Amino acid sequence: MLSVEKLYYRYADGTDALSDINLDVKKGQFIGLLGANGSGKTTLLRTMDGLLKGFEGRVVLDGTDIRKLTPKQIYKKMGLVFQNPDDQLFAPTLFEDVAFGPLNMGFDDNEVKQRVAAALKEVELEGLEKKSVHNLSFGQRKRACIAGLLAMGHEMLLLDEPTAGLDPMGEYRMMKLLQRLNRENGVTIVMATHSVDLVPVFLDELYILSKGRITRGGTPEEVFNAPEDMANIKLRLPHIAELIYRLKHEDKIKFDRIPLTIGEARREILKTFENEKY
Ligand SMILES: Nc1ncnc2c1ncn2[C@@H]1O[C@H](COP(=O)(O)OP(=O)(O)OP(=O)(O)O)[C@@H](O)[C@H]1O
Ligand SMILES: [Mg+2]
Repeated sequence: MLSVEKLYYRYADGTDALSDINLDVKKGQFIGLLGANGSGKTTLLRTMDGLLKGFEGRVVLDGTDIRKLTPKQIYKKMGLVFQNPDDQLFAPTLFEDVAFGPLNMGFDDNEVKQRVAAALKEVELEGLEKKSVHNLSFGQRKRACIAGLLAMGHEMLLLDEPTAGLDPMGEYRMMKLLQRLNRENGVTIVMATHSVDLVPVFLDELYILSKGRITRGGTPEEVFNAPEDMANIKLRLPHIAELIYRLKHEDKIKFDRIPLTIGEARREILKTFENEKY
């Protein structure tokens, strides 16, 4: 659906933000871009959305070079949620902000109202329609941006740290919402994040970005099997994986594999106990 081929991007001040990026997003996937601060996640999402154009290489959306598409053609298929909600929200009230996209897409007033109501319900902001976007809390503004895109009903969403700044329950609910959009509505999702603990629970595939390069890619199991590598790129393993890794290597407790989630860890621990006849 979207492919990135040999992409290089240099900012005007000479910063090489992306080097030799190759990435394929297939329809229906839920992909993560994981990287430390400054690794190039935002830059990559902005080139994938056609906002940054002065790159070397190619970005191809459904078979067409993204530089040949008009913003309108791009936004029909794909929406980007910015990292900072204040770069995205602009209308006086929450209702007007979320309604802007569907209004521009030409839906009638009734349809717009329905879409806004459904989107606000999804992100749990119903009842705040008349509130000024400036007076929403950070986490509410973050969710308001996502509602704005949900109301448009894109086939593909690019999300720049959708859970940053949300409280733990909000973070979990946001991931559940994205998972539901992906599984039930078939929305293809690419999200940038540095939350290693969330990734294995929700994502099919992830790419690690470090200093503008993709250093690893694959399923969470494939990517998280080398803790030293993770430390080198200023990331860590998910906490649960770190615990089992240390029990295995420092305390010599036998584990066949390094689980990444609490559910998997529980099964592995019970299996070990059974084998040891505790
Ligand atoms: N407008 C700009 N002009 C010059 N350099 C920039 C610009 N925007 C970003 N950079 C540089 O490009 C590199 C990648 O930045 P980017 O914002 O893509 O990282 P990121 O992975 O999104 O980081 P974060 O986790 O902090 O959001 C950094 O070295 C940054 O300093
Ligand atoms: Mg960023």
